[in-house]
Amino acid sequence: MANSGNMPQTILVTGAAGSLGKSVAQHLGQALSEGRISRLRLADIAPMTNPLGEAHPGLERVEISLTSPEAAQQLTEGMAAVIHLAGIPTESDWNRLIPANLAGPAYLWDACVGNGVDRVLFASSNHAIGMYPVGTRIDHTAPPQPDSRYGVTKAFGEQLAALYAAKTPVRGFCMRIGSCFEQASTKRHLKTFQSLADFNRLIDTGLTADYRYEIVYGLSDIPDSYWDNSNARRLGYAPQDHPRDFIRAPLDPTDYPLHGGDLPDMPLKSGG
Ligand SMILES: NC(=O)c1ccc[n+]([C@@H]2O[C@H](COP(=O)([O-])OP(=O)(O)OC[C@H]3O[C@@H](n4cnc5c(N)ncnc54)[C@H](O)[C@@H]3O)[C@@H](O)[C@H]2O)c1
Repeated sequence: MANSGNMPQTILVTGAAGSLGKSVAQHLGQALSEGRISRLRLADIAPMTNPLGEAHPGLERVEISLTSPEAAQQLTEGMAAVIHLAGIPTESDWNRLIPANLAGPAYLWDACVGNGVDRVLFASSNHAIGMYPVGTRIDHTAPPQPDSRYGVTKAFGEQLAALYAAKTPVRGFCMRIGSCFEQASTKRHLKTFQSLADFNRLIDTGLTADYRYEIVYGLSDIPDSYWDNSNARRLGYAPQDHPRDFIRAPLDPTDYPLHGGDLPDMPLKSGG
């Protein structure tokens, strides 16, 4: 773990029952058991497994919906850093997206100010920039071009992080995650993949680096990706993996014209 001397001692992970959340919980659970952090609070609307397999005085698991000011207040109390992964992870209707992906983050950042949280690491998405053509390579300075309602919620989260970083002490680290899975399964993943181990490396960078507000890409070591991730590397991120080592079956060969893959083609239906 990079710069473990600078590790925030008390860390909240939201969305800890999810696929990225479980992996981050394992990673930080190890830091807790080795005494490199003192408290780890895991939160999700769904039940979470104990990453340590046994009780530990510094480990809490809180089953709660992060859609109210009260929940945000309760979860952030006493925390130095927040890793915000909870939410609807793909295109959906506004009835589902508004509470989980818009209201939840808004209440969360508000509560972070009141509770003196130093930094928020936010799971943004490539779908915040999904309408860029694949022939256009972009970096962290590229403004959002969302490809879906879901992508709009991620652009909103990035702007929340920017607002609070500018006007309050809460630092923001926005990770535009590409395709973070156990396996690379599509041709597109050759440009967008991030291994779970590299995601944990990026989390360590966000927890320990010195910054006020940053956008980085959640991407493994892919020099010919759609995204130039030099900003993450500048902050200390050193990815170790490449998607070719995570292929277990023939790849879906579909070619997509835009960064967001299949989401840019999804129609916006009223009420749907
Ligand atoms: N996995 C990827 O490739 C990828 C890519 C881009 C962005 N992301 C983002 O990363 C985050 C984690 O993704 P994931 O793949 O682990 O998704 P996931 O669906 O496995 O995990 C999301 C978790 O959030 C929880 N959640 C949903 N609504 C909640 C609420 N109201 N209150 C509390 N918890 C709630 C769910 O129960 C779930 O456990 C998401 O925000 C997603 O948008 C993931």
